[in-house]
Amino acid sequence: MDKIQSAERMDLIHSDIRGKLYHEALKLEQQGEKILRLNTGNPAAFGFGMPESVREALLAGMDRAVAYCDSRGMKDAREAICGYETGKGIRDITPDDVFICNGVSEAAQMLCLTMLDPGDEVLMPCPCYSLWSNGARLAGAVPVLYTCDEQQDWYPDEKDIEQKITPRTRALLIINPNNPTGAVYDKEALLRLLDIARRHHLIIISDEIYDRLVLDDIPHYSCAALAPDLPVITCNGLSKSHIICGFRCGWCVLSGKDDILSDIRDAMERLSSMRLCGNTLTQLVIPAALKDEASTKAMLVPGGRLWEQRRAVMEVISRTEGITAVENRAAFYLFPKLDIKSFGIEDDHAFGLGLLREKHILIVPGTGFGYPQQDHFRIVMLPEPDQLRTAMEDIGDYLNTLRERNMK
Ligand SMILES: Cc1ncc(COP(=O)(O)O)c(C=O)c1O
Repeated sequence: MDKIQSAERMDLIHSDIRGKLYHEALKLEQQGEKILRLNTGNPAAFGFGMPESVREALLAGMDRAVAYCDSRGMKDAREAICGYETGKGIRDITPDDVFICNGVSEAAQMLCLTMLDPGDEVLMPCPCYSLWSNGARLAGAVPVLYTCDEQQDWYPDEKDIEQKITPRTRALLIINPNNPTGAVYDKEALLRLLDIARRHHLIIISDEIYDRLVLDDIPHYSCAALAPDLPVITCNGLSKSHIICGFRCGWCVLSGKDDILSDIRDAMERLSSMRLCGNTLTQLVIPAALKDEASTKAMLVPGGRLWEQRRAVMEVISRTEGITAVENRAAFYLFPKLDIKSFGIEDDHAFGLGLLREKHILIVPGTGFGYPQQDHFRIVMLPEPDQLRTAMEDIGDYLNTLRERNMK
């Protein structure tokens, strides 16, 4: 019998966050090397603790989580989410518009399957977090990447978006705050994006998983609140704000005038039922977590880890030749640019592999986010400030070595 092949659609699916470099890192770890993993946004792996509010809710409610629940999610959890999103200014939603999933990751896959037909196009930001491009491809749809402009603090290029709209364009994905750039969009920019969607009859998918992790007192605006008339799907979850990535806790909320998304809601109900329900243990913690803003906020102010870690990284970058970065305004990702000519870098994977082998630091190459040039990479700024400072200096040392090799 011939070797069994995977389905063709899988040829298109890849994640460079846990891709070739990651597997090389695992090999090195097996050989006894210690690798600093700056590839995944997984705060608990760097000593961030789960908030007490979450622990208490989980322990107190365990018995309630034994049975399957409503396939859309537990009632009190959906009510809490509805309250949270209403608090963000989203109007006329009820718990029936909320679907709790095993992370935003599962919500994204389910939404792509319910919304997209083969050949449909979805506009997605470039650089793009691969969850959404993979989700579209699994549904047979086509991710069409629009430029986010580094010169404009990584804001979306509206002209580029307009140019890429075709009769097959079905949705516009906005990731705000953004991964991997850390950008937070202001109200005016969002209103302009929403207006494009309005003029071209597009669904807005708004991934707002980092909305509670905004730094520098910048306000965060939910797209659905700014455009109550439009069909908007708002995605959010507790993985990062409450340090429970492993719990797999995310949701989506459907909104829009005249119940415009009722067909999608019906399809989501059927798809949710197919997998019976999401993990109930994680749902137990949603009401308590959404009430507990303090533990998240403590990370974001001077003295808080996310604030201090960003400062450590930016300080080293500012004195390292050949590397620049637009400071992130939220979350803990940075997407620095390298002066690849001076370092003789032609391939960002090769750069990542060299850094891994020589300095034992694992990053994600920019092309892994669909970025068209070889001159960017992403790091997560989750280790403690001193460790991050040393890591950035090690990256600087490695770049110096490349520069010297290049000059020979
Ligand atoms: C922009 C964005 N959306 C969604 C997710 C998925 O989060 P989860 O599946 O843990 O809810 C992530 C994870 O890093 C992300 O960065």
